[in-house]
Amino acid sequence: MMEQKTAIVTGGAGASAGGSGRYISQRLAEMGYFVAVWDVQDEAGRKAVHKINEEGGCAAFFHCDVCDEGQVQQALAQTCAQTGRVDVLVNNAFWHADVQPPLHEVTVEDWDRHMELNLRCHFLVCKYVIPLLLNQPESVILNIGSTGARRGEDGYAAYSAAKAGLESLTRSIAAQYGRSGIRCNCLVPGLVLDQDMYAALAQVPAAKAAFDRIDRHTLLARGHGTGAEVADAAAFLVSDASRWMTGECLVLDGGAISHNAPWADNRAAQNET
Ligand SMILES: NC(=O)c1ccc[n+]([C@@H]2O[C@H](COP(=O)([O-])OP(=O)(O)OC[C@H]3O[C@@H](n4cnc5c(N)ncnc54)[C@H](O)[C@@H]3O)[C@@H](O)[C@H]2O)c1
Repeated sequence: MMEQKTAIVTGGAGASAGGSGRYISQRLAEMGYFVAVWDVQDEAGRKAVHKINEEGGCAAFFHCDVCDEGQVQQALAQTCAQTGRVDVLVNNAFWHADVQPPLHEVTVEDWDRHMELNLRCHFLVCKYVIPLLLNQPESVILNIGSTGARRGEDGYAAYSAAKAGLESLTRSIAAQYGRSGIRCNCLVPGLVLDQDMYAALAQVPAAKAAFDRIDRHTLLARGHGTGAEVADAAAFLVSDASRWMTGECLVLDGGAISHNAPWADNRAAQNET
């Protein structure tokens, strides 16, 4: 059995719009971790792992629906069979409906599914992984939240509420396990799309106009948010560089929610006249 430091990345195939899980897995492999990619998308998961191994890293894919207690236990046993230890857990997996109807029309099943896939599953994975993290003198849980938790979101109420719950869970984990060596923080991204996705959208005039409008009205920092940006911040929160930081939520959104965008627009319009 290897004695290599091990990181589990849920949703590590990174097969959704942002690709963050894939970029985080790559970055952790570059940092020397054996990366266990847990995901429901087998083909994308194997592809992500193949790329890491091809580039000299060390990773393996384990099929795991993080909502399923039995599958979480099985994936953990399979991961431990490889290295016998877990040092880092990144709770990245998520799901939301494209756009939800107004709250009074949201079905109970739909609400519950959002809670299950954006909050309950993270509890479930933590429940089984924490005993292994406690075997190490220093270990890390990194939850991936969303700026949706920080403001009203028309069409994403259930997702946003679950992400707000994840920020709270982050603080409770930090409080309960900090003195036992587990640091727990939450990375809170704004809109993040894979670079290829931006390139494809740029070919569609209406989509390009929408993104230009979003950039102009909300972003302060230059450029778009991509999975690579998320991986950079995740690397900081996992590494020793953030060793004195726990129970915190770090927003990564190009400055979008840091300022009053309509006010800035108003000032810009005044300066133009
Ligand atoms: N993309 C955005 O604009 C954005 C904005 C704010 C926050 N976030 C958060 O960032 C994280 C990553 O988002 P992303 O868009 O980069 O996604 P991503 O590309 O990292 O893909 C997410 C992965 O989760 C997996 N997954 C879904 N259900 C699962 C389950 N039941 N069990 C295991 N795996 C499952 C998917 O198969 C997919 O591979 C998420 O937590 C998301 O809520 C994303």
